[in-house]
Amino acid sequence: MRRGFSGRWGTTFSPVLLAPAVLSLLLFLFVGPSTAWRPWPRTRLNGSDPLFDGSKKYEGSSEFVHLRYHMGPVLTNNITVHTIWYGSWARAQKKIIRGFITSISAVGSKHPSVSGWWRTVQLYTDQTGANISRTVRLGEEKNDRFYSHGKALTRLSIQSVIKSAVTARTKPLPVNPKSGLYLLLTSEDVYVQDFCDNVCGFHYFTFPSIVGYTLPYAWVGNSAKLCPGVCAYPFSVPNYMPGFKPVKSPNGDIGVDGMISVIAHEIAELATNPLVNAWYAGPDPSFPVEIADLCEGIYGTGGGGSYTGQMLEGGDGATYNMNGIRRRFLVQWVWNHVVSYCTGPNALDQ
Ligand SMILES: *[C@@H]1O[C@H](CO)[C@@H](O)[C@H](O)[C@H]1NC(C)=O
Ligand SMILES: *[C@@H]1O[C@H](CO)[C@@H](O)[C@H](O)[C@H]1NC(C)=O
Ligand SMILES: *[C@@H]1O[C@H](CO)[C@@H](O)[C@H](O)[C@H]1NC(C)=O
Repeated sequence: MRRGFSGRWGTTFSPVLLAPAVLSLLLFLFVGPSTAWRPWPRTRLNGSDPLFDGSKKYEGSSEFVHLRYHMGPVLTNNITVHTIWYGSWARAQKKIIRGFITSISAVGSKHPSVSGWWRTVQLYTDQTGANISRTVRLGEEKNDRFYSHGKALTRLSIQSVIKSAVTARTKPLPVNPKSGLYLLLTSEDVYVQDFCDNVCGFHYFTFPSIVGYTLPYAWVGNSAKLCPGVCAYPFSVPNYMPGFKPVKSPNGDIGVDGMISVIAHEIAELATNPLVNAWYAGPDPSFPVEIADLCEGIYGTGGGGSYTGQMLEGGDGATYNMNGIRRRFLVQWVWNHVVSYCTGPNALDQ
């Protein structure tokens, strides 16, 4: 993520004088928000941003993007996604999200496919040259039906929710720091700190002091009630964009269909930057620009600026850009560091 926070926490403190506990909290506040984003189409590619300087070509292509590897680990082992369903989730909603995750490494989905989308993520390697795992599996699930930490979560209480899930007396989620991803999904009646204000989801890792382990995790919220125009774009369009019409979502649930692209964004970044010391661009490790940030709002060929790029339309009139197992999804593209632009399975020149 690169928007929204730099100003807020940008004042100078003198951390040396502070007690260690306060220090680590401060550190958290500085570093914590570093990986959040919103799917909003970019509208400011006009030369004012050094990272994207003047690039009006297409699909984010820019010789000025210096995505670099910072020597940290990436997820080269088979990845298992453990899900925490926080709040009230309908069975049909869970099915759409599970369907997406199991589609990531499915074989035999029709082209353009979700597994074709993941192929760009697989292009990233660690110091030993090992690629990101091809395999992404659905792991265990935990229901937090009764809002154990309330209906307004902070970045800190999110870690407590994860702690509750991995330490629960019955059926705790397995602790799997090497290849597990922990996906906290909040229902539409839950507010999470900074949700909607440039943030539709974020990823980070848990602190041993809070959770007992260092686990890569992501949070993604259902924005249907709070801000679908921000987080479920283009299935919903905000009022201040007159003339833009929302498109029909592929699985009949605007909030959840909107979450899919955010979940994809976070999983791609977790795989390539799980401890926020591997693949990112930008001079500041506290505000890394990661492989999905570079392509936010881009879903097809020609995308960039406020244009989503060419998407596909199903016989049912729904807009999508890739096929999964028996379902279709609309998922943003990710940065391909081999060719230095955003790529996706539905690219027209493939
Ligand atoms: C474009 O750049 C100008 C000045 O460089 C700035 O004032 C303006 O806000 C920018 N527009 C967008 C859409 O970013
Ligand atoms: C990883 O996943 C592949 C494909 O599902 C499987 O064949 C392999 O045995 C798995 N490896 C481990 C270590 O679980
Ligand atoms: C592994 O990464 C390298 C470097 O990006 C790439 O050339 C190769 O095709 C990747 N392998 C797979 C299986 O994706």
